[in-house]
Amino acid sequence: MLARIHSFGINGIDAFPVTIEVDVARGLPSMQVVGLPDSAVRESKERVRSAIKNAGFDFPCGRITINLSPADMKKEGPAFDLAIAFGILAASEKIPSSNLDRFAFLGELSLSGTILPATGALPSAIACGGRGLQGLIVPPGNSIESALADTVAIFPFGTLGEVVRFLDQPDDTAAFKAETNPAPDISGETIDLIDVKGQTHAKRGLEVAAAGGHNALLIGSPGGGKTMLARRMLTILPPMTREESLEVTRIWSVARSNGRAAKNLAHERPLRSPHHTASHISLVGGGTDPKPGEVTLAHNGILFLDELPEFARRTLESLRQPMEDHFVTVARAARTLRFPSRFMLIAAMNPCPCGNLMDPRRKCRCAAADITRYMGRVSGPLLERIDLHLQVPALTARELGSAPDGEPSAKVRERTIKARARQSERFKDEKVFANAQMTSNQIKKYCGLDNEGRKLLHDAVDMLGLSARVHDKLLKLSRTIADLAGSENIKPEHLAEAVGYRCLDKINN
Ligand SMILES: Nc1ncnc2c1ncn2[C@@H]1O[C@H](COP(=O)(O)OP(=O)(O)OP(=O)(O)O)[C@@H](O)[C@H]1O
Ligand SMILES: [Mg+2]
Ligand SMILES: [Zn+2]
Repeated sequence: MLARIHSFGINGIDAFPVTIEVDVARGLPSMQVVGLPDSAVRESKERVRSAIKNAGFDFPCGRITINLSPADMKKEGPAFDLAIAFGILAASEKIPSSNLDRFAFLGELSLSGTILPATGALPSAIACGGRGLQGLIVPPGNSIESALADTVAIFPFGTLGEVVRFLDQPDDTAAFKAETNPAPDISGETIDLIDVKGQTHAKRGLEVAAAGGHNALLIGSPGGGKTMLARRMLTILPPMTREESLEVTRIWSVARSNGRAAKNLAHERPLRSPHHTASHISLVGGGTDPKPGEVTLAHNGILFLDELPEFARRTLESLRQPMEDHFVTVARAARTLRFPSRFMLIAAMNPCPCGNLMDPRRKCRCAAADITRYMGRVSGPLLERIDLHLQVPALTARELGSAPDGEPSAKVRERTIKARARQSERFKDEKVFANAQMTSNQIKKYCGLDNEGRKLLHDAVDMLGLSARVHDKLLKLSRTIADLAGSENIKPEHLAEAVGYRCLDKINN
């Protein structure tokens, strides 16, 4: 007879429904898997055979055909083991099939019949919602993670035998109950913007960046606090919405390489800081076994590139597409995967090999050609995609010795939260979340200027020789500055402040 079992496959960070059809027919004993399985799925045969025997059932003799549909999507990993095992048991009438189609199945089987955690439990649980199923059967190690979806009842079981007994008489009280108030992930170290002395210009710039989701470059002499500032960026960003937290957790759910399941909904925005020796594959994802790269792991958070000119040119160029589109496509043999990559880029660099150019108190000893070569490592198009260029001069000994004089992160964060709330209201019917993501039509719609503002903008563009892209960036930045000021209209002073954040355009032109 033919049995049909529901399961889920993973594509990028999304799950798609997979139906597993198993047919056991008379004939010489054989087992065949069709429907674009990868090698892990093909190897499932041996695990399933052994697990079924060890759970105390006879393995059917005859010709077993296992079809995974839809046939055009690649099925990866061992997570179909459990569904295949139940397909075989039902098709060979070892168990009644009456309750099988009320549930979906996810889990790898060990030879002894224990059910081991699978990747992608959270996306599967999300995809399970709204399909009229009574529940998702998962390995115990995936129960917390899949329950985060809150879309379907989760039934965790440790062995094949336990699932057989449950399906005999499905009982909703066996459903997993998540703790109502899971403890947030707490990152041990506490850092605060108040630790950074002086640098009021850079701090204000980072506040603007955080408020509108803008990319920023910190540029200045060694020891001015660029790395310190960048590391504190998370402390002034507005918290994630539930939607954003789920996206981040889903990425963990498919990206983890150490087999650990997500214990909790992600609470903190991610901060990724790849070393400058990182390859472009580790940055944007890919490889023979395609994994999300740093740009995806930084989704909804920050990608921090310290010592920007030290990164290989090709690596930096590979950032342009994900920065523009907010997703990356990772090509592989038969298809392409798509991973989200809406991150804020925070980069840091010295302005010249010695680091002292632009520093009012120190003298730069670099030859003009060396400066050009150094800056040339960071391409113009990448610099253009960065909204704010913030100068971070070295502090004087007196400034360094003084007591902290700035605001704590919490204070700044109150303002960025308010500014984001204005943006959420503005974009409630649009597909963007923050000013930095506005399209040119949205810029026209939301960034109107008065006469004085228009003149100021034209003058800046003419005098500094700015490109159309920079022109738009200035408008987006002034929109954020106006939002921080609680102003409905963009005023000339908001635009003037925005122009002040484009110091590299002045040097480059
Ligand atoms: N503004 C500052 N306030 C307080 N401490 C500072 C500040 N700037 C630098 N420091 C001190 O100097 C150290 C180096 O700072 P940081 O690494 O942030 O500098 P940087 O600008 O990244 O330098 P480099 O260009 O060499 O990478 C910090 O660990 C801190 O102790
Ligand atoms: Mg540094
Ligand atoms: Zn120099």
